[in-house]
Amino acid sequence: MPALKKIGILLSGRGSNFEAIANSIKAGRLHSEIAIVISNRADAAGLESARQRGLHAQLIPSKGRVREEHDAEVIAALKQAQVDLVCLAGYMRLLSPDFIRAFPNRIVNIHPSLLPAFPGMDAQKQAIEYGVKVTGCTVHLVDEHLDHGPIILQKTVPVLNGDDVHTLSARILEQEHAAYSEAIGLLLSGEVEIQGRTIARKQVRAEGK
Ligand code: GRF
Repeated sequence: MPALKKIGILLSGRGSNFEAIANSIKAGRLHSEIAIVISNRADAAGLESARQRGLHAQLIPSKGRVREEHDAEVIAALKQAQVDLVCLAGYMRLLSPDFIRAFPNRIVNIHPSLLPAFPGMDAQKQAIEYGVKVTGCTVHLVDEHLDHGPIILQKTVPVLNGDDVHTLSARILEQEHAAYSEAIGLLLSGEVEIQGRTIARKQVRAEGK
């Protein structure tokens, strides 16, 4: 059996996407291991949850710090943990260009809308205010622009009559929890290729073609 690929998780808050990933691994749906969970906030519930699960959980506070300095510390911790993939799971910090360069095509994020619609904060509120009938979530590679890198996968949910931010967010979150593990599995499988903005399963070419 090849060695399990290692994931590093960055979070700032509740951590339900982190928990969904950890649960997928525990249930054998995702063949990987969480090597480190890093929070930039001491009060992140996700950090406590990681500790309770016996994972390597580390606080690297960001408040009042220069972005590049904080990022350098986070990069060092991820490198020391020898992660193959960095997963942003509600990490409320923009990454510096140095960070992106340290893990080329190896940083993923989940966003609660069908990008490129509604990037940035309050994506669910943006969707309701715009009046769309369908929204969802996107798992994508992280590049230097906000919520912008190549898309790994998306899941859709309907916007129903009478939805508010709370009900819509809950419906999207359910899909996020499935989507994130699926996308990680796909990336770690080595069965996808990245061409420009397109990420697709490698085509099996018939012999002689
Ligand atoms: C999720 O909605 C995710 O899409 C966004 O931040 C939220 C994090 O939630 N990036 P949680 O901390 O994973 O519960």
